[in-house]
Amino acid sequence: MKKKDLLTLFEYSAEEIGGVLNLAAKLKEARGISENGALCGKTGVLIFEKPSLRTRVSFETAIYELGGHAINLPQESVGMGKRESVEDVARNLDRIVHLIVARTFAHDTLTRLASSCSIPVINALTDLAHPCQALAFGQTLEEVRPNEKLNITFVGDGNNVCASIMVLCAKLGHRFTHAGPKGYEPRADLLRKCDEIAATSGGDISQTADLGEAVKRADVIYTDVWASMGQEAEAEKRKQAFKSYQVNAELMAKAPQNAIVSHCLPAHRGEEITSEVLDSEACIAYAEAENRLHVQKAVIVHLFS
Ligand code: CP
Ligand code: NVA
Repeated sequence: MKKKDLLTLFEYSAEEIGGVLNLAAKLKEARGISENGALCGKTGVLIFEKPSLRTRVSFETAIYELGGHAINLPQESVGMGKRESVEDVARNLDRIVHLIVARTFAHDTLTRLASSCSIPVINALTDLAHPCQALAFGQTLEEVRPNEKLNITFVGDGNNVCASIMVLCAKLGHRFTHAGPKGYEPRADLLRKCDEIAATSGGDISQTADLGEAVKRADVIYTDVWASMGQEAEAEKRKQAFKSYQVNAELMAKAPQNAIVSHCLPAHRGEEITSEVLDSEACIAYAEAENRLHVQKAVIVHLFS
């Protein structure tokens, strides 16, 4: 049987995503250490080419609670692609451990890892996608607005987090709009692919630079930092490009009264989002951060079942 990974979410059907979200809710309710868990006697390796708080802690905890053992391998010690090739890292880990969780710059590094081993590989964020974040968002939406088809507006940079949320929306039949300045839209091929998926799921995918119009009917407003990890040198240029796309009280006043807000975190308070909004009742970002644990446990169970 072909092994299963989690690389972008495109490779997951709506039914599979629904199954993972249902299982995540059950695992959250029954929180604890499972001695007969999916990873009993198994080891997962975490490789991070970029910094992390939530992803690393939630994966280490998830592996522990599923009865397994986690080894964190910082890129400096592995030297993936430097000390030895990406493929050789994968071929070696394949023979010793049972799971690879990797956060890489190039998405290609992740796919090369995945195609060079027979064990599951989970995307812990690449420059292209952050599927675990999107799944945690999906779980949180089910908690606050269960069984609804929602209008979701992503404000800001159309890169990894935005792209994965767009895929989730397309698969689950939500209406997704990206609002951001010209030049920072989600990749055209991803927009097109999501549009095709949405046509069969009952969802809708659109893109605009008109922020006011995009939030008018938004049930959910999502944002992310203006300069992602690896884009630090562009921070000033990006601040200028995104300055009229801040999620603040004035913007929230243009959205429906019960609109909720989220952010993948870490947030740059006072840039893409104000503290007033991030700390408000409308914000589900911290609940979503907590759900990273539960949904990743569900993904692991799914991959090992
Ligand atoms: N949201 C998220 O992935 O956080 P970290 O970068 O801290 O892991
Ligand atoms: N877009 C951000 C997300 C961090 C979780 C980044 O890639 O840095």
